Amino acid sequence: MTAAVYVVSIDPQASTVWWANRITNLPFDFSQEHETPENLKILKDTGAQVHVVANQKGGVGKTTTTLNLAAVAAEVLQKSDSLLHVFIDTPGSLQDENLLLEALKYAHDVLVPMPPEGLAFDPTARTIEKVIKPTGLPFRVIINNWDPRDGKADLEDTQAYVEAQGWPQASTPIRRYKVHTRASVEGKVVTQYQRNRVALEAREDFFKLALELGYGGAV
Ligand SMILES: Nc1ncnc2c1ncn2[C@@H]1O[C@H](COP(=O)(O)OP(=O)(O)OP(=O)(O)O)[C@@H](O)[C@H]1O
Ligand SMILES: [Mg+2]
Repeated sequence: MTAAVYVVSIDPQASTVWWANRITNLPFDFSQEHETPENLKILKDTGAQVHVVANQKGGVGKTTTTLNLAAVAAEVLQKSDSLLHVFIDTPGSLQDENLLLEALKYAHDVLVPMPPEGLAFDPTARTIEKVIKPTGLPFRVIINNWDPRDGKADLEDTQAYVEAQGWPQASTPIRRYKVHTRASVEGKVVTQYQRNRVALEAREDFFKLALELGYGGAV
């Protein structure tokens, strides 16, 4: 038996490592590979589905999405005879495009987190049009960090923008919650949040998203 889920970071900033190292009972295997991207081939050769989480705009929620989706998939799938899903967290900068391109060589699909704000539109478009589309890989935009207290306009404007570009998008947005922001310092992933109402709401988004993306499990 082995862990069903593996997380790789190829972001030289290594914030994923910082976060993962603080988590006790990490529910998935993890490694930092920005200096050894050739190891990604080994992971793909296991037959696992490889999901690259990418947006060259910084701070859109790549690391948050990677670790939490991986945690939910790991909880749903439990132990397995083989590795089933690999999630690759990538750099949020144009300088490290070569690393992102390397990861895409080994990917089955790409998840593109983007916040519901106009400033993110152009940089997200660049990543999708110039980097992801030329690979021919299937991809999906995930709207992250939507604050429902601001009303639905930002969410709907962003969904309309994504649709107008002809980009596939997940119908589940990830809402903004303080528990997500604090989780890295506290060394937690969504499956380890306390069982209070707000934390349960926060984790629900990742469970719904995992279900929508086909990583199994019920809300
Ligand atoms: N849904 C959310 N709710 C609350 N805070 C969030 C959410 N998503 C992201 N954040 C916060 O926003 C910040 C940026 O998120 P994150 O580090 O995941 O982005 P990133 O795209 O990986 O950034 P980088 O490009 O620097 O690697 C972090 O402080 C994170 O906790
Ligand atoms: Mg990151």
